[in-house]
Amino acid sequence: MRVWALPLALLALVACVTYSVAVRRSGKEPPITPLRPVAIDPGPLARRLASMQAGWPLSRRFDCARIKCVALTFDDGPGEHTGRLLDLLDSRDVRATFFVIGQMVAADKGGRIVRRIVEEGHEIGNHSWSHPPLAEMPNDVVRRQLKHTDDLVQRLTGVRMRVMRPPYGSTDDDVAAETRREGLAQILWNVDTLDWRDRVASTVAKRAGEAKPGSIILLHDIHRSTVDAVPAMIDTLARKGYTFVTVSELYGKTPTPGKMYLGLRSAVQGR
Ligand code: NI
Repeated sequence: MRVWALPLALLALVACVTYSVAVRRSGKEPPITPLRPVAIDPGPLARRLASMQAGWPLSRRFDCARIKCVALTFDDGPGEHTGRLLDLLDSRDVRATFFVIGQMVAADKGGRIVRRIVEEGHEIGNHSWSHPPLAEMPNDVVRRQLKHTDDLVQRLTGVRMRVMRPPYGSTDDDVAAETRREGLAQILWNVDTLDWRDRVASTVAKRAGEAKPGSIILLHDIHRSTVDAVPAMIDTLARKGYTFVTVSELYGKTPTPGKMYLGLRSAVQGR
Protein backbone atom coordinates (compact mmCIF):
# COMPACT_ATOMS: atom_id res chain seq x y z
CA MET A 1 0.00 0.00 0.00
CA ARG A 2 1.30 3.44 -0.86
CA VAL A 3 2.12 5.84 2.00
CA TRP A 4 -0.72 8.22 1.20
CA ALA A 5 -3.39 5.51 0.90
CA LEU A 6 -3.90 4.89 4.64
CA PRO A 7 -4.50 8.53 5.71
CA LEU A 8 -6.80 8.95 2.72
CA ALA A 9 -8.84 5.88 3.70
CA LEU A 10 -9.05 7.09 7.31
CA LEU A 11 -10.22 10.51 6.13
CA ALA A 12 -12.96 8.92 4.01
CA LEU A 13 -14.11 6.78 6.95
CA VAL A 14 -14.32 9.77 9.32
CA ALA A 15 -16.26 11.81 6.74
CA CYS A 16 -18.71 8.95 6.22
CA VAL A 17 -19.37 8.44 9.95
CA THR A 18 -19.73 12.20 10.57
CA TYR A 19 -22.24 12.49 7.73
CA SER A 20 -24.43 9.59 8.89
CA VAL A 21 -24.46 10.87 12.49
CA ALA A 22 -25.44 14.34 11.25
CA VAL A 23 -28.30 12.90 9.17
CA ARG A 24 -29.54 10.86 12.12
CA ARG A 25 -29.33 13.84 14.51
CA SER A 26 -31.19 16.17 12.14
CA GLY A 27 -34.28 13.95 12.54
CA LYS A 28 -35.47 14.97 9.10
CA GLU A 29 -37.48 12.51 7.09
CA PRO A 30 -35.50 11.08 4.20
CA PRO A 31 -36.64 12.38 0.81
CA ILE A 32 -38.76 10.22 -1.46
CA THR A 33 -36.35 8.00 -3.34
CA PRO A 34 -36.92 6.93 -6.93
CA LEU A 35 -38.32 3.45 -7.38
CA ARG A 36 -36.34 0.57 -8.76
CA PRO A 37 -38.17 -2.42 -10.20
CA VAL A 38 -38.52 -5.26 -7.70
CA ALA A 39 -38.61 -8.85 -8.89
CA ILE A 40 -41.32 -10.95 -7.22
CA ASP A 41 -40.10 -14.43 -6.26
CA PRO A 42 -42.42 -17.18 -7.47
CA GLY A 43 -42.71 -18.84 -4.05
CA PRO A 44 -45.01 -21.62 -2.82
CA LEU A 45 -47.69 -19.01 -2.10
CA ALA A 46 -47.64 -17.64 -5.65
CA ARG A 47 -50.84 -19.42 -6.64
CA ARG A 48 -52.64 -18.16 -3.55
CA LEU A 49 -51.43 -14.65 -4.31
CA ALA A 50 -52.67 -14.94 -7.90
CA SER A 51 -56.13 -16.00 -6.72
CA MET A 52 -56.24 -13.12 -4.22
CA GLN A 53 -55.30 -10.69 -6.97
CA ALA A 54 -58.06 -12.06 -9.19
CA GLY A 55 -60.79 -11.21 -6.68
CA TRP A 56 -59.18 -8.06 -5.31
CA PRO A 57 -60.36 -6.43 -3.14
CA LEU A 58 -63.48 -8.57 -2.72
CA SER A 59 -62.68 -12.26 -2.54
CA ARG A 60 -65.52 -12.89 -0.04
CA ARG A 61 -69.08 -11.60 0.15
CA PHE A 62 -70.97 -10.62 3.30
CA ASP A 63 -74.27 -8.85 3.81
CA CYS A 64 -73.19 -6.53 6.59
CA ALA A 65 -76.59 -4.81 6.53
CA ARG A 66 -77.98 -8.05 8.02
CA ILE A 67 -75.14 -9.61 9.99
CA LYS A 68 -72.92 -7.97 12.61
CA CYS A 69 -69.68 -6.99 10.89
CA VAL A 70 -66.66 -5.15 12.20
CA ALA A 71 -63.52 -3.97 10.38
CA LEU A 72 -60.20 -4.02 12.24
CA THR A 73 -57.80 -1.52 10.63
CA PHE A 74 -54.08 -1.31 11.36
CA ASP A 75 -52.13 1.85 10.44
CA ASP A 76 -48.53 3.02 10.09
CA GLY A 77 -46.83 -0.31 9.31
CA PRO A 78 -45.49 -2.61 8.20
CA GLY A 79 -43.33 -2.75 11.32
CA GLU A 80 -41.48 -5.18 13.53
CA HIS A 81 -44.70 -6.56 15.09
CA THR A 82 -46.69 -6.97 11.86
CA GLY A 83 -45.47 -10.52 11.20
CA ARG A 84 -46.67 -11.66 14.64
CA LEU A 85 -50.00 -9.89 14.05
CA LEU A 86 -50.44 -11.74 10.74
CA ASP A 87 -49.75 -15.04 12.53
CA LEU A 88 -52.40 -14.19 15.17
CA LEU A 89 -55.00 -13.21 12.56
CA ASP A 90 -54.26 -16.30 10.45
CA SER A 91 -54.60 -18.65 13.41
CA ARG A 92 -58.08 -17.21 14.10
CA ASP A 93 -59.09 -16.92 10.43
CA VAL A 94 -59.66 -13.18 10.88
CA ARG A 95 -59.15 -10.70 8.05
CA ALA A 96 -58.32 -7.05 8.53
CA THR A 97 -57.23 -3.95 6.62
CA PHE A 98 -53.69 -2.56 6.73
CA PHE A 99 -53.08 1.12 5.89
CA VAL A 100 -49.39 1.10 5.10
CA ILE A 101 -46.84 3.92 4.93
CA GLY A 102 -44.74 3.87 1.75
CA GLN A 103 -41.46 4.45 3.58
CA MET A 104 -42.19 1.50 5.86
CA VAL A 105 -42.99 -0.71 2.87
CA ALA A 106 -39.72 0.35 1.23
CA ALA A 107 -37.83 -0.55 4.43
CA ASP A 108 -39.34 -4.06 4.39
CA LYS A 109 -36.85 -5.50 1.91
CA GLY A 110 -38.49 -7.39 -0.93
CA GLY A 111 -41.94 -6.52 0.42
CA ARG A 112 -42.21 -9.77 2.41
CA ILE A 113 -44.83 -8.38 4.79
CA VAL A 114 -47.00 -6.57 2.23
CA ARG A 115 -47.05 -9.71 0.11
CA ARG A 116 -48.15 -11.72 3.15
CA ILE A 117 -50.89 -9.16 3.84
CA VAL A 118 -52.35 -9.70 0.37
CA GLU A 119 -51.67 -13.45 0.21
CA GLU A 120 -53.47 -14.02 3.49
CA GLY A 121 -56.62 -12.28 2.31
CA HIS A 122 -56.32 -8.94 4.09
CA GLU A 123 -56.98 -5.63 2.39
CA ILE A 124 -54.12 -3.21 1.95
CA GLY A 125 -54.64 0.55 1.82
CA ASN A 126 -52.56 3.67 1.27
CA HIS A 127 -51.49 5.73 4.31
CA SER A 128 -49.23 8.12 2.31
CA TRP A 129 -45.49 7.89 1.76
CA SER A 130 -44.15 9.66 4.87
CA HIS A 131 -47.25 10.40 7.00
CA PRO A 132 -47.67 14.20 6.65
CA PRO A 133 -51.00 15.95 7.42
CA LEU A 134 -52.25 15.96 3.80
CA ALA A 135 -54.68 18.89 4.18
CA GLU A 136 -51.69 21.11 4.98
CA MET A 137 -49.72 19.99 1.91
CA PRO A 138 -49.77 21.44 -1.61
CA ASN A 139 -51.76 19.34 -4.10
CA ASP A 140 -48.68 18.09 -5.95
CA VAL A 141 -47.18 16.78 -2.68
CA VAL A 142 -50.45 14.98 -1.85
CA ARG A 143 -50.44 13.47 -5.32
CA ARG A 144 -46.86 12.19 -4.99
CA GLN A 145 -47.45 10.90 -1.45
CA LEU A 146 -50.35 8.76 -2.71
CA LYS A 147 -49.03 7.72 -6.10
CA HIS A 148 -45.57 6.69 -4.92
CA THR A 149 -47.03 4.38 -2.28
CA ASP A 150 -49.61 2.98 -4.73
CA ASP A 151 -46.92 2.22 -7.28
CA LEU A 152 -44.60 0.52 -4.79
CA VAL A 153 -47.35 -1.71 -3.35
CA GLN A 154 -48.52 -2.62 -6.84
CA ARG A 155 -44.98 -3.59 -7.86
CA LEU A 156 -44.59 -5.79 -4.79
CA THR A 157 -48.04 -7.43 -4.61
CA GLY A 158 -49.63 -7.02 -8.02
CA VAL A 159 -52.73 -5.34 -6.57
CA ARG A 160 -53.80 -1.73 -6.97
CA MET A 161 -55.01 -0.30 -3.67
CA ARG A 162 -58.59 1.03 -3.62
CA VAL A 163 -58.69 2.66 -0.20
CA MET A 164 -56.57 5.17 1.69
CA ARG A 165 -56.56 6.68 5.15
CA PRO A 166 -55.37 10.27 5.55
CA PRO A 167 -52.71 10.51 8.29
CA TYR A 168 -54.21 12.17 11.42
CA GLY A 169 -57.56 12.12 9.58
CA SER A 170 -56.29 15.31 7.91
CA THR A 171 -58.37 15.85 4.77
CA ASP A 172 -60.21 18.57 2.86
CA ASP A 173 -61.71 19.15 -0.59
CA ASP A 174 -58.29 19.23 -2.27
CA VAL A 175 -57.21 15.95 -0.63
CA ALA A 176 -60.56 14.41 -1.65
CA ALA A 177 -59.94 15.49 -5.25
CA GLU A 178 -56.46 13.94 -5.25
CA THR A 179 -57.72 10.67 -3.78
CA ARG A 180 -60.44 10.57 -6.43
CA ARG A 181 -57.84 11.11 -9.14
CA GLU A 182 -55.71 8.29 -7.70
CA GLY A 183 -58.73 5.93 -7.50
CA LEU A 184 -58.77 5.77 -3.69
CA ALA A 185 -61.70 6.04 -1.26
CA GLN A 186 -61.00 7.84 2.03
CA ILE A 187 -61.52 5.55 5.01
CA LEU A 188 -61.81 7.19 8.43
CA TRP A 189 -63.05 5.33 11.55
CA ASN A 190 -65.72 5.49 14.23
CA VAL A 191 -63.99 3.56 17.03
CA ASP A 192 -60.68 5.04 18.20
CA THR A 193 -58.77 2.74 20.57
CA LEU A 194 -56.15 5.48 21.31
CA ASP A 195 -53.63 2.65 21.22
CA TRP A 196 -50.80 5.06 20.26
CA ARG A 197 -51.30 6.87 23.57
CA ASP A 198 -52.31 4.11 25.98
CA ARG A 199 -49.84 1.26 25.49
CA VAL A 200 -51.81 -1.16 27.65
CA ALA A 201 -53.13 -4.24 25.85
CA SER A 202 -56.18 -4.73 28.13
CA THR A 203 -57.26 -1.07 27.65
CA VAL A 204 -56.90 -1.32 23.87
CA ALA A 205 -58.83 -4.62 23.77
CA LYS A 206 -61.62 -3.16 25.94
CA ARG A 207 -62.08 -0.09 23.72
CA ALA A 208 -62.14 -2.21 20.55
CA GLY A 209 -64.67 -4.51 22.22
CA GLU A 210 -67.13 -1.58 22.42
CA ALA A 211 -67.58 -1.55 18.62
CA LYS A 212 -71.08 -1.42 17.13
CA PRO A 213 -72.28 -3.31 14.02
CA GLY A 214 -70.57 -1.78 10.98
CA SER A 215 -67.78 -0.15 12.99
CA ILE A 216 -64.33 0.63 11.63
CA ILE A 217 -61.80 0.27 14.47
CA LEU A 218 -58.59 2.32 14.41
CA LEU A 219 -55.43 0.49 15.56
CA HIS A 220 -51.67 0.75 14.91
CA ASP A 221 -49.63 -2.40 14.27
CA ILE A 222 -46.36 -0.59 15.06
CA HIS A 223 -47.05 -0.95 18.81
CA ARG A 224 -46.31 -4.19 20.64
CA SER A 225 -49.19 -3.53 23.08
CA THR A 226 -51.67 -3.28 20.20
CA VAL A 227 -50.63 -6.64 18.78
CA ASP A 228 -50.73 -8.08 22.33
CA ALA A 229 -54.35 -6.84 22.55
CA VAL A 230 -55.51 -8.64 19.41
CA PRO A 231 -56.37 -12.11 20.84
CA ALA A 232 -58.59 -10.67 23.62
CA MET A 233 -60.13 -8.18 21.18
CA ILE A 234 -61.04 -10.94 18.73
CA ASP A 235 -62.40 -13.18 21.50
CA THR A 236 -64.63 -10.40 22.89
CA LEU A 237 -66.03 -9.38 19.51
CA ALA A 238 -66.47 -13.00 18.35
CA ARG A 239 -68.39 -13.76 21.57
CA LYS A 240 -70.71 -10.86 20.71
CA GLY A 241 -71.37 -12.48 17.34
CA TYR A 242 -69.25 -10.27 15.10
CA THR A 243 -67.83 -11.29 11.73
CA PHE A 244 -64.43 -9.75 10.92
CA VAL A 245 -64.32 -8.19 7.48
CA THR A 246 -62.05 -5.94 5.44
CA VAL A 247 -63.14 -2.38 4.68
CA SER A 248 -64.29 -3.22 1.13
CA GLU A 249 -66.11 -6.33 2.42
CA LEU A 250 -67.88 -4.15 5.00
CA TYR A 251 -69.46 -2.13 2.20
CA GLY A 252 -69.93 -5.16 -0.05
CA LYS A 253 -68.33 -3.32 -2.95
CA THR A 254 -65.22 -1.38 -3.77
CA PRO A 255 -65.68 1.99 -2.02
CA THR A 256 -66.06 5.00 -4.32
CA PRO A 257 -62.84 6.96 -5.02
CA GLY A 258 -62.72 10.35 -3.29
CA LYS A 259 -65.69 9.57 -1.04
CA MET A 260 -65.20 9.52 2.74
CA TYR A 261 -66.31 6.54 4.85
CA LEU A 262 -66.55 6.47 8.64
CA GLY A 263 -68.23 3.12 9.27
CA LEU A 264 -71.12 1.25 7.68
CA ARG A 265 -73.94 3.46 8.85
CA SER A 266 -72.12 6.75 8.62
CA ALA A 267 -70.96 7.02 4.99
CA VAL A 268 -70.52 10.63 3.96
CA GLN A 269 -71.20 11.60 0.37
CA GLY A 270 -68.12 12.68 -1.58
CA ARG A 271 -67.13 16.15 -0.50
NI1 NI B 1 -51.06 7.04 10.86
